[in-house]
Amino acid sequence: MCGIIGIASYKPVSVNIINSLKKLEYRGYDSAGIATIKKDLIDEKKCSGRVDELEKILFKTPSDGNIGIGHVRWATHGIPNLINAHPHSSESVSVVHNGIIENSDELKKNLLSKGLKFKSQTDTEVITILITEELKKNKPLVSVFKTLNKLKGSFALGIIFKDFPNIIIGARRGSPLAVGYSNKENYLGSDSYALKSMTNKISYLDDGELCVLSKNEVSFYDFSMKKINKKVHIVSNDENMAEKGDYKNFMSKEIFEQPITVKKCVNEYIDNLKKDINIFNFPIDPREIKKIYLIGCGTAYHSCLVTKYWIEELTNIDVETDIASEFRYRNLKFDKKNLYIFVSQSGETADTAAALDICKKNNVKTCSVINVIESTIARNSDWVLPIHAGPEIGVASTKAFLGQLIVLYILSLKLASVRGEITKDIYIKNIQNLITLPETIKSILKLESKIQMMAKEFINARGTMFLGRGSSFPIALEGALKLKELSYLHAEGYPAGEMKHGPLALIEEGLPVIVIAPKDKYYEKTLSNMQEVISRGGKIFLLTDNKKDALSENIRFGLRVPHLDNLLSGILLTVPLQLLAYHVALLKNCDIDKPRNLAKSVTVE
Ligand code: AGP
Repeated sequence: MCGIIGIASYKPVSVNIINSLKKLEYRGYDSAGIATIKKDLIDEKKCSGRVDELEKILFKTPSDGNIGIGHVRWATHGIPNLINAHPHSSESVSVVHNGIIENSDELKKNLLSKGLKFKSQTDTEVITILITEELKKNKPLVSVFKTLNKLKGSFALGIIFKDFPNIIIGARRGSPLAVGYSNKENYLGSDSYALKSMTNKISYLDDGELCVLSKNEVSFYDFSMKKINKKVHIVSNDENMAEKGDYKNFMSKEIFEQPITVKKCVNEYIDNLKKDINIFNFPIDPREIKKIYLIGCGTAYHSCLVTKYWIEELTNIDVETDIASEFRYRNLKFDKKNLYIFVSQSGETADTAAALDICKKNNVKTCSVINVIESTIARNSDWVLPIHAGPEIGVASTKAFLGQLIVLYILSLKLASVRGEITKDIYIKNIQNLITLPETIKSILKLESKIQMMAKEFINARGTMFLGRGSSFPIALEGALKLKELSYLHAEGYPAGEMKHGPLALIEEGLPVIVIAPKDKYYEKTLSNMQEVISRGGKIFLLTDNKKDALSENIRFGLRVPHLDNLLSGILLTVPLQLLAYHVALLKNCDIDKPRNLAKSVTVE
């Protein structure tokens, strides 16, 4: 997944392009580049590494064209080096691309056989050469259309033309692309976040759409070259939440603002006076729902797994969860009485969006639990449940995970209540627990110094395991994911009861093992699994909300969080795991907000 920006203006654009690329770095940061047009020349500058490096190049050799495109890259084709950095330019055209052209090898072979030359290993350069060849016979718009019809796979494109220095063409199939409007200036960008500092008027291209923008006007077309109109959205400007403020990095800010974001989310859905949940516009009568599917990737998938336990505990609805990249290729029997719920922070994850498309094609009802409400997944869902977490910039998801859990828990409660499967007392008690959650999370964040001590025990570890049962098992998976993606330490989440079926072989003297054991119906069983680990030399870090003393001398580290309710323990026990991963990564001098090899929004499959 890469980030794209394009600006057509009455004044030089390079500074605004660089500023927008910095906002897009969460989408990829292997390399960066810019191309502007000045005096009938394409002025291309690129760097491997971060946008800061590109900025230094521009300080030395400024680009002062009034039209340009920029790109930050997360490598898919070709190693992350200078040659493969975007834009990819010929003498007449320059292209930035987000996506994967699946037939690029075949197209490249054909172009090579015609004697055309390539500099890079990328699929994007194939697009550049194809358009360049078409431009010898056609105008830009026709040249682009003809090229797009040859491409298989996904793309969001930004294209500028040496001989037509007033226009930028953008095109979208499978990867997000937005247009922004201002006075004597118009913009192209991967998402509204990159454009919000310049405008709050945004249109979103859908798959199979193309735009032609100049400083004074924007026109839209579908891929049959028919002119179309696009809605202009006025987007909220939550810029302040997208700044680090006094925090060292975005991740620490996003961990510590969870009491605020959880409170905001709860307040959006809970009527505190009536002690009721404001969810009414179900796309299917909740009493008729036969089965719920929960689909997502990574952390979002973990919130699906936790929700499965909640819905099964509170209702009689059958539940299935799946990882989106698996779901999209299954031979499923769709049923109109099922509800298909897609969980995604960014709302642009390609696998999740593709899984949603399959449901739409099968005419079943879909819901998205989403943070970015202007995103593709939100726009394509029948029903959207926002998590109100504000922009999440750190690649490792924290506040969005808690927001997803809160919304899914509230939905589970509402379903159970409307279907008459829980009593009014239980319904109100659980609502009250939700209202106290922000303060409880705040108290857990005060354990940070203890967790910092705990983190020291991991910096030289060869690996680690996270164990849990019931809804603590997905929390174990999430804790392991946080630790591995932030500190690059091998970490595995496992059902505690499964250890004796093989993974116990991994346990050796001193291996750190985190056991997540809230005082729920699995507590005693989890502790006995913990003993299996202790007897083989494992070093136990026990996370519990049990007030009584579960912390024996065999425990290396015990951390106790407040007990609210069995169903909410997973939410509370997640917070220490976020802090643990954060502090281990800090001790290992890893890049907290931009871990190696990753990107925030995975818009390629
Ligand atoms: C979470 O820490 C990871 N960065 C990653 O697994 C993420 O949750 C996943 O890519 C899904 O992203 P989404 O929620 O934006 O769809």
